[in-house]
Amino acid sequence: MAETGKNIGKAIQILESGGLVAIPTETVYGLAANAFNTDAVARIFEVKNRPWFDPIIVHCSGLAETEQIVKEIPDLARSLAEKFWPGPLTMLLHKQDDIPDLVTAGRQKVAIRVPDHPITYTLLKSLDFPLVAPSANPFGYVSPTSAQHVNQQLGDHIDYILDGGECHVGIESTIVGFKNDTTVIYRLGGLEPANIESITGKIVFKPQSISNPNAPGMLESHYAPEKRMILGNVDELLKKYDSDKTGIIRFKRQAGKKASGNELYLSVTGDLREAAKNLFSILRQMDTMDVEVILAEKVPEEGLGLAINDRLKRAAGKRMQKIIT
Ligand code: TXA
Ligand code: MG
Repeated sequence: MAETGKNIGKAIQILESGGLVAIPTETVYGLAANAFNTDAVARIFEVKNRPWFDPIIVHCSGLAETEQIVKEIPDLARSLAEKFWPGPLTMLLHKQDDIPDLVTAGRQKVAIRVPDHPITYTLLKSLDFPLVAPSANPFGYVSPTSAQHVNQQLGDHIDYILDGGECHVGIESTIVGFKNDTTVIYRLGGLEPANIESITGKIVFKPQSISNPNAPGMLESHYAPEKRMILGNVDELLKKYDSDKTGIIRFKRQAGKKASGNELYLSVTGDLREAAKNLFSILRQMDTMDVEVILAEKVPEEGLGLAINDRLKRAAGKRMQKIIT
């Protein structure tokens, strides 16, 4: 198990000497290393069992600090950054030459964001290099939203976990890029498309697919629990599956219906923000419960619900894709 605590000084010292530290963000915990230290970055790929073609997001403390990382910030990107950073928005921008190819998997564009968490903000401000940080989970598994989640799987392989409590957004950042004057969403996430559109005008949604896994968060199976998960109409599915050995994930409590012991709600009251925050810990909880199969229903397809449904679909996605990656 890795030492866990709130010691920013210790995290600084480890990162400066090329170590790996799990850091809290508002979305999920990241596994951080010095973006310019290629040995440390390579160790992240090894610890996560992450394919080398999957690039990593660079994190910095503010818009001014991005100058070190990207060649230019187009007007659209600047407007988005001014409005939504710090926050769950990642942008793909042209990288400076000295950003290692390992970080971007050979691409000319680097994914960059300013996370919204006080501890990580202080950490980033104190360092004189940016941090790369993918989600702190083995590749393909559910992302961690607490220090305990990180410790459960990666604890034996990393140097320190900076504990910032539970992540308040709970799903990863929204990833956008720019094609001419159009804003393209490559991954749905914690910032709602409508918020982005309010700044940029019309957006295009272009999830990356297995045939072109630009953003492997878009692989068919990702964010997935160990157990088999089926997404659909839970009441219909329950007719087919033995309910003693079946875990159920519902969006909210159903009026007048008694819940079975294996039933969990993303949000008792049906609040999408709360559902996003709880999603990954509920998927993890299902893996620890005495159930064989997980039945889940989609949430309303609006606002944050778009990103939640995206994660649910991938959590239930075909496992073959995992082998391919
Ligand atoms: O909220 C988040 O984004 C969290 C926290 C820790 O910041 N990070 C996160 O990282 O979700 P990760 O590595 O689990 O997912 C990042 C996604 C991947 O699907 C990756 O392929 C894509 O971003 N990505 C990173 N750099 C990219 C690049 N240069 N071009 C295209 N896609 C990129
Ligand atoms: Mg991830």
